[in-house]
Amino acid sequence: MTISEAMVQRHSVRKYLDRPISNIARFLLEGCITKCNEESGLHIQLITGEPKAFALMFSGVSNYIVLAGPKNDSLDELCGYYGEKIVLFAQQLGLNTCWAGISAASLVGAFDLDDGEAYCISIAVGYGEDHGNERSTKVFDDVVTVSGPLPAWFRSGVDAALLAPTAMNRQSFRFELLDDGHVRVSVRRGVFSRVDLGIIKYHFEEGSGKDGSVWA
Ligand SMILES: Cc1cc2nc3c(=O)[nH]c(=O)nc-3n(C[C@H](O)[C@H](O)[C@H](O)COP(=O)(O)O)c2cc1C
Repeated sequence: MTISEAMVQRHSVRKYLDRPISNIARFLLEGCITKCNEESGLHIQLITGEPKAFALMFSGVSNYIVLAGPKNDSLDELCGYYGEKIVLFAQQLGLNTCWAGISAASLVGAFDLDDGEAYCISIAVGYGEDHGNERSTKVFDDVVTVSGPLPAWFRSGVDAALLAPTAMNRQSFRFELLDDGHVRVSVRRGVFSRVDLGIIKYHFEEGSGKDGSVWA
């Protein structure tokens, strides 16, 4: 499954089967998390076989990914960017996921924080009872400020961003292609809006084939 296919097939799943993640999927997922931590400086952790934390929130969750890292202004956006990279990789491994604004207190001490680090958000992961559902979505013209002809890479990037999960399915982002070829993206301020921003940027980069230097 390509990343583009994973973007289309991914939906939030809130009910999971009582089935451990296979050894191979777990090994590959842990490798992906290690790589993301090395690249970002984050302290992302995979917790397995722990059914208490999500018991009141979703059904059947005993595996989850905790997103944490150095406490600074870029923590939320970085967690969104790398968390979504892991979400799409999990989808490629045949796993289902759901971002979850669960509190650190609910995570029953299952994860570590080093000095100067803060907890951000978590992602439930495992084999879903189903693969989730299509949801309503904005369309290209709703989220683009047009100022001239638009290249195909920009359209592909925005289309990929429209497939991204956002808190409460807000999709409150706007893209603009600047004259110098850079892209400006803004997100309306709200709960987890900086996490949404990181998620959207990851989708845009994958969809457009551009890297982080595309951002204004
Ligand atoms: C930052 C963030 C936080 C979220 N928090 C929750 C949550 O606390 N509870 C929940 O049920 N879904 C949560 N979601 C899932 C969104 O509701 C879901 O992504 C959105 O409705 C779009 O649906 P989709 O993921 O199936 O495309 C969250 C998603 C994001 C990106």
